[in-house]
Amino acid sequence: MTDSQNFGFLKLHMPGFSDNLMLTYSKNGITFLYLFHPASSGVVSQVVKDTLTRGISMYRITLKILAVSFVFITFNAYAEQASSIARGGQLFDKWFEVIDAPKPENTHSAWPASNTKKKGNVTHRCKSCHGWDLMGKDGAYASGSYKTGIKGLRHLEGKSNDKVIAAMKDETHGYAGKMSDQDFEDLANFVTKGQVDMNKIIDRNTKLAIGGNADKGAAYYNTVCAGCHDKNGKEPKGMPPLGKLSNKNPWEVVHKTLNGQPDEDMPAMRAFDLQVTVDILTHLQTLPKE
Ligand code: HEC
Ligand code: HEC
Repeated sequence: MTDSQNFGFLKLHMPGFSDNLMLTYSKNGITFLYLFHPASSGVVSQVVKDTLTRGISMYRITLKILAVSFVFITFNAYAEQASSIARGGQLFDKWFEVIDAPKPENTHSAWPASNTKKKGNVTHRCKSCHGWDLMGKDGAYASGSYKTGIKGLRHLEGKSNDKVIAAMKDETHGYAGKMSDQDFEDLANFVTKGQVDMNKIIDRNTKLAIGGNADKGAAYYNTVCAGCHDKNGKEPKGMPPLGKLSNKNPWEVVHKTLNGQPDEDMPAMRAFDLQVTVDILTHLQTLPKE
C-alpha cells in the first residue's frame, strides 16, 4: 500500500441513531465509506479504538459525519422508492383492493362501448385499459376480451411524475378524490420508474420466458413461494394453477411477482435482480397446468 492509500475505522455517535461503524478507505485523495451495522464484531471495535487513540482531527470527523448522513439519506431514499414502486404496481393492478375502497359498480366512462365483454369494477383497474405489459393496444390486449384500443404507457418511462398524476386526475380518468396523494405518488413512481420492458423477457409469440434458468427458478420458487402456492403451484384453491396462468398470461405473472398481490401478504421480488423473476417464470411454465 502506498502513502496515498489508507484504511481507517470510525465509530459514530449520532444523536437519534444507534452507534454506527464506518470503514474509510482513502486512495489518492478520494475517500470511500463503508457502513457497518451496530452489531459488529469485537475485532472491529478494537481497531476503532486503536485508530481513535492515534487521533483523527475534528475537521475530518465532521466531514465524514456529513458524508455518512448522505449515505443514510441515499440508502433510505432507495429503499423507500422500491416499496413505493411495488405498492404503485399493486394499485395499478387493483387500486380499490389495496386501499380498501368500495368496489366501483358502474362501468368506467372511458371503457369503450365496443367492448361488451367486460363491465363493472374490472374496467376501473389501470391494467384493464393499459395492460399488464403497459403497452395498451400495442401489447397483449391488442386482441381478446380486454381489447379497448387504448394506448399504452411505455413512453412515460423515465418521465416526470407530474404528467402521470395529472392524467389520473383528469376527466377521462376521474380518480381525483378517490385516492390519496401517497397513492397517486406510488402509482406515478411505478409508471415512471418501475416499468419493465416485457418484450425483452417474454416471447410475444410463444409466451415463453426469454433467457431464464428453470433450475434456479425452481430453487427460488420452492423456497420463497411454495409455502403459500405449494410446490406444484396449485394452492391456494380459488386461483388458477400457476402452471396454467404463467403460460396463458406471463405478463400478469411477472407483474405480480415483481409487485406482489393486492391485499395479500405475498412478497414483491422487485428489489432483487429482474433475472430472479425471469427464472421463476421459466420454472412456473413447467408446472402442471391443471
Ligand atoms: C377505462 C379505461 C382506463 C383506465 C381504467 C385507466 N386509463 Fe389511463 N388512459 C385511458 C385513456 C383512454 C387514455 C388516453 C387519453 C387521451 O389520449 O386523451 C389514458 C391515458 C393515460 C395516461 C396519459 C398518457 C399520455 O401519453 O399522456 C396516463 C399517465 C394514464 N392513462 C395512467 C393511468 C393510470 C395510472 C390508471 C389507473 C390508476 C389508468 N390510467 C386507468 C383509459 C384508462
Ligand atoms: C404469504 C403467502 C404467499 C407467498 C409467499 C407468495 N404468494 Fe403468490 N399469492 C398469494 C395469495 C394469497 C394470492 C391470491 C390468491 C387468490 O387470488 O385466490 C397470490 C396470488 C399470486 C398470483 C396471482 C394469481 C391470480 O390468479 O391472481 C401469482 C402469479 C403469484 N401469487 C405468484 C407468486 C410467486 C411467483 C411467489 C414467489 C415469488 C408468490 N406468489 C409468493 C400468497 C402468496
